[in-house]
Amino acid sequence: MRISVIGCGYVGLVTGTCLAEAGHEVVCTDNDPKRIATLKAGVVPIYEPHLDAMLAANFRMNRLSFTSDAGEAVRSAEAIFICVGTPPLENGEADLSAIDDVARLIATESATPKLVVEKSTVPAQTGQQLKRALGVYSRKAGAEFRVASNPEFLREGTAVEDFLHPDRIVLGVEDHASENQLLEIYRPILEARFRCPVHMGACPSTQPPKLVVTTINSAELIKHASNSFLAMKISYANMIADLCEKVGADINEVTRAMGLDPRIGSRFLAAGLGFGGFCLPKDVQAFIRLAERTGVDFSMLKEAERVNKRRIDLFLEKIRQALWVVKDKQVGVLGLAFKANTDDIRFAPSLEVIRRLLAEGAQVRAYDQEAMDRTSAIFPQIQCCREPHEVARDADALLILTEWEEFRQLDWERIYKLMARPLVIDGRNLLDPKAMLERGFEYHSFGQPVETVPVRFVPAQHPKVSAVSASA
Ligand code: UGA
Repeated sequence: MRISVIGCGYVGLVTGTCLAEAGHEVVCTDNDPKRIATLKAGVVPIYEPHLDAMLAANFRMNRLSFTSDAGEAVRSAEAIFICVGTPPLENGEADLSAIDDVARLIATESATPKLVVEKSTVPAQTGQQLKRALGVYSRKAGAEFRVASNPEFLREGTAVEDFLHPDRIVLGVEDHASENQLLEIYRPILEARFRCPVHMGACPSTQPPKLVVTTINSAELIKHASNSFLAMKISYANMIADLCEKVGADINEVTRAMGLDPRIGSRFLAAGLGFGGFCLPKDVQAFIRLAERTGVDFSMLKEAERVNKRRIDLFLEKIRQALWVVKDKQVGVLGLAFKANTDDIRFAPSLEVIRRLLAEGAQVRAYDQEAMDRTSAIFPQIQCCREPHEVARDADALLILTEWEEFRQLDWERIYKLMARPLVIDGRNLLDPKAMLERGFEYHSFGQPVETVPVRFVPAQHPKVSAVSASA
């Protein structure tokens, strides 16, 4: 099928590339001509595992193309996926102006019937507004529009795998023609007819994705309700972590056992600095605003948001307690991206932590394998290191702000020797507290009691470090 994708952010690029891999003829467009020029030159402007190779392969096979002529992209397509950004407004509501612009574009350029698919995350009832806007802006005879909602459940860092091996595909439709057209689009995914770059032809035999056909309003709500639930789950785990610190329990033991109950599930119970990124924080806010606008008291969600904001305060408190005076201290930061396997720093906890450390007069040195350039554009005063161990040199404290697997594998004994004071404050509960103590570190994390373990390795240059409880 001829498909056009409007918006070349990570959702648009992953959607366009995976639909091309599924055998469709896809043209992607964006209102940023520089982005299109970059893509045409074969450069993927974001870091998303497996995307670049799959994009290049489909580009070579002429199944995937890029154009800045949005009108041409619209005219040539039978189905149009809207993948533009819906950033938060000052009041927390989603800014839908880009969707309105796209509606105008589609309505004025189309002379043949089109299926218009909302892929961007939008509040419930946007589909109804989109349908109305397409009718109002439409000029040409023959242009009939069917609107559908097809929310994405892609996680940054595993978006290609999530698209090709989804748990569910949600189709919010109002008529059989739209349902059938979307089914045709997704059939290769449902039947696993694609070359999977993640598993190199050896995909695990899992249950096929569940196809869920709903109304448009329900599909829109499913997306916000899912992200908000995940956010609440994380905040819940974080509150349990705080309780663990007070009563001397271990958050990992508690959540591991909780997660064994299939009604709870083990995922999204990782305690730490809380949720960031461009999806969960903004979707929670938009959902709260939707509830307020419709007169529903969803204070439970407001509480989840408040708990999340408090994580940074608690983390800074741990830093202050350990360092006493922050001013003029050399602080090393491992991890800047809002989570591992991405270069995205939007609403990353690291930004707020660094901002506050700088405000208190600390000197900050940082390392992240993907997100350093973006961060140094915001904080030119921090020193970026090309190598993770360098961050530790002469540092009074080392902070872990992103759960990159790479950090678990570092040469911690070398880091011990490099640091002025062997103090690690782990905002992601990435490392094993016992092992860190055995190496001689003073180690703080969230919700994990620090046991007193005989210090095995203490070079002469460091004062002997004693165990300090996580809440000390
Ligand atoms: C999220 C959802 O997980 C996707 O299903 C959804 O499609 C996407 O938003 C979207 O709306 O486009 P994403 O923002 O990529 O995906 O990241 P998550 O994996 O959800 O992580 C969000 C944040 O929560 C990260 O900062 C992560 O470090 C944090 N997190 C996650 C925790 O603090 N604890 C956990 O147990 C899990």
